[in-house]
Amino acid sequence: MVFPFKNGVKQVLKAGVLAVALLSAGCGREETTFPAEMPPSVAAPTAEPVASQSFTRTAKEMLMADFTLYRVDCATKDTGIFPTGFPAGLCQSQSDMPYGEDPVTKLYWGYHGSPDILSEEDSLGEGVTAFKWVVSKNASDPSKTGICYDFSVPEGNYTVTLGFYNPFGVRKISVECEGKTEIKAEKILRYNVNEKSFETKVTDGILNLKVCNPDAHTFMESPILSYITIASEPEYTRELLSAAVESMRVDNAAELYTEKSVKSYLSALEAAEKFLSKESNNGVNQIKQKFKDLRESYKMLTKKYKYDSFNPGAVWTDTEGTPIQAHGGQVQQLEIPDPETGKISTKWVWVGEDKTHGYRGGVCAYTSDDLYNWKFEGIIMRNVPSRRALEKEEYFKDLYAGYSDAELDNVALALDAERAVIERPKLIYNEKNRQYVLWFHADGPTATSNSNYAAACAGVAVSDTPFGPYRFVGRYRLNTCPPDQEDKHPQSKGMARDMNLFKDTDGTAYIIYSSEENLTLYISKLNEDYTYLETEPEKAVYGKDFIRLFPGAQREAPALFLKDGRYYLMTSGCTGWAPNQARYYVADSVMGEWTSKGDPCIGDSNHTTFESQSTCIFLDVNSGTWIYMGDRWFADTLNDSRYIWLPIVFKDNGDMEISFVSNWKLR
Ligand code: DGJ
Repeated sequence: MVFPFKNGVKQVLKAGVLAVALLSAGCGREETTFPAEMPPSVAAPTAEPVASQSFTRTAKEMLMADFTLYRVDCATKDTGIFPTGFPAGLCQSQSDMPYGEDPVTKLYWGYHGSPDILSEEDSLGEGVTAFKWVVSKNASDPSKTGICYDFSVPEGNYTVTLGFYNPFGVRKISVECEGKTEIKAEKILRYNVNEKSFETKVTDGILNLKVCNPDAHTFMESPILSYITIASEPEYTRELLSAAVESMRVDNAAELYTEKSVKSYLSALEAAEKFLSKESNNGVNQIKQKFKDLRESYKMLTKKYKYDSFNPGAVWTDTEGTPIQAHGGQVQQLEIPDPETGKISTKWVWVGEDKTHGYRGGVCAYTSDDLYNWKFEGIIMRNVPSRRALEKEEYFKDLYAGYSDAELDNVALALDAERAVIERPKLIYNEKNRQYVLWFHADGPTATSNSNYAAACAGVAVSDTPFGPYRFVGRYRLNTCPPDQEDKHPQSKGMARDMNLFKDTDGTAYIIYSSEENLTLYISKLNEDYTYLETEPEKAVYGKDFIRLFPGAQREAPALFLKDGRYYLMTSGCTGWAPNQARYYVADSVMGEWTSKGDPCIGDSNHTTFESQSTCIFLDVNSGTWIYMGDRWFADTLNDSRYIWLPIVFKDNGDMEISFVSNWKLR
C-alpha cells in the first residue's frame, strides 16, 4: 500500500496558515511569538525536508499496526518512549512532541504549545503514570482555550479516537476536526476511562484537531486530553483479507477461548477462507464485510477463565467472560434437563436481576457444577418493550397466545421495560405439577402515583422448563394487618416489596416479604401450585395463613433457611441501595415465634454487613458449607454491583457468625 503524503514544504506552509486560524480559535498562542508561516514549536525546515514524502506499507504491516498512523500519549514528558505501554503508530517515533518534524519518520505532527496548556501526571495505580493536557488556572479565557494538534496524513478517511482520564468532576468536551464539530459538549465522567471516536476525511494532507469546551467559564470546566489515535481506513483488497486470515489464525482457539467467542470467530474465519479460495472473488464490499467480521470476532475472542475460589466484591464473570447479572438473586440445586441434550443432571441454578442496562431489566439464570464457574442460560423472563410487542414479537406472541386484551394490558403494565421495577426474583419447582414458578418483587408507578415503588406487589410467572421463557401470571397485593393488631401503614393495604421464598420439609411453600411500607415483614403460605396464596387475603386467618413479624422494625431483604430443625431469617434494614446492619432471627417453625439474635457479622466495623445486603442463604451439602449471598449495590452503576458470598460459621449453640474473607474455597 502506498500512501502519498503531500509535499512536505506545502505541509509546513499549511501549518503556518493553520497557526493563525488556531490562534483566533483560541489555541493559546501569542501572535507575536511566531512567524505567520510557522508555529513556534516547529524547527526551521531544512532546504528540502520531506519534499516528496511517501509512505509505503504492506497490507500486513498496516494490519499489524491496526491501521494506526499515530498513537499519541498526550503530554508525556519523556518523549521517545511510551510510558503507559502504548505501541507507537506507524508515522511517529515519539510518544508526543511539539508540532514539527518527527526525527525518524520525517513527517510533521504534534501539539501546538501554549502557556495556557499544561502537562499533568496522574498515578493510575500499580506503578503506572498517565499524563494528560490540562488548562492552566491562569488561562484568561477557558472558553477559548483549546488543545490543538496537527498530523501529516495521506488523503483519505480516518477514525480518530480520543481518550480522557478524568480525576476531576464531570467535564464537557467538544472536538473540532477538519473544520467540523465532531463531538459537541459530551460528558467526560470522573474516574472513568472515557473514550470518544469519530470518522473524518482528510483532503489536504493534514488532519487538524482541537479539543475544547466552548462553554467553559472556569478552569474546572476546561478541557483535558490523555491520548489520541489516528487510524486509516483499510484498503479492502484480497491481499489484505489473506494477510488477515494468516495473522488472525488461532489453531487451538477452542482450547483457549470461550465457547461463544470461538464460535463466531471460526465462522468468520471459515467464510474468509472460502471467499479467498475462489480466485474470481474480488468484490470490495464483500472483502470489506469478510474482513470486518474476521477482525471483530478475532478481537472479541475471550480467554477462558476458570475460578477455583470465591472473591467477594470482585467482578465475577460467567463462562463467556461477561460479568454475571443475577442481582438480588437466589442459588439452589435443581435436577434439570440439559437444554441441548435433554439429559437430566443436578446443577446449581442462580437466578437474579438483569441490571445490564441499569435499574430496569428482566430476570437472568445461570448454572454451575462447582458454584465458582457459572454458565449463562439466558434472560428467563424478559421485560416488555411495548404493549404492541406482546402481539407482534414472536417471543411474546407465542408466550401469551390465548391471553385476553385485558390480560395483555396487565402483562404490559407489570413488565413494562420503561416503567416496571422487577426485583429479587426467586424460583421454586413444583414437583406435583412439574412447573417452575418464579416470584419477584413487581413494582412501578400506578394510576395515582408516579413513584417507582407505588405498586408494591408480588409478581408470579411460570414455565415448564427451568430457563423459560416464563409467562407472567399476575401481580398481587398480599395479606393485610388483622383488625385487632396495629397496622403500621393503614393507608395502603397488602403491600409486598423485598421478598423471598421458602419450601419447608413437608413441601409447603411460603413467601416472606416487606409490607406496610417496609415497616413490617410478613410470611404468607402459598397454595399447592405455588402460584398464589393458600387463602386469599379477605379470608386468610392470622397465624394459620400468615403472620406479621417485628411491626415497625423496618426490615427487608429476607433470606429464610432451615438448619438442624431451627428456622433462621436473615434481614437488612431499609436504606435504599446503601448497605446497613444485618439482623437475624430464629424460630422453631415458620409460623412460630421469631426471636431476634442481632447482627451475625464479626469484625464488620462499619456495621454495613460488609457493605452488602442479604438475598439468599443456602447449603452446599458436599462441603457442608452454609453460604451467605449478598449484594453490594452501586447505586450509580447498578450493572456493576458486586456479589458478596461468605461462609457462615454456626457455633455449638446454633448462633450464626459471618466474617469477611477476601478469597476462600469450599472445603
Ligand atoms: C433495597 C431493596 O432491598 C432493593 O431490592 C431495592 O429495592 C432498593 N432498596 C431500591 O432502593
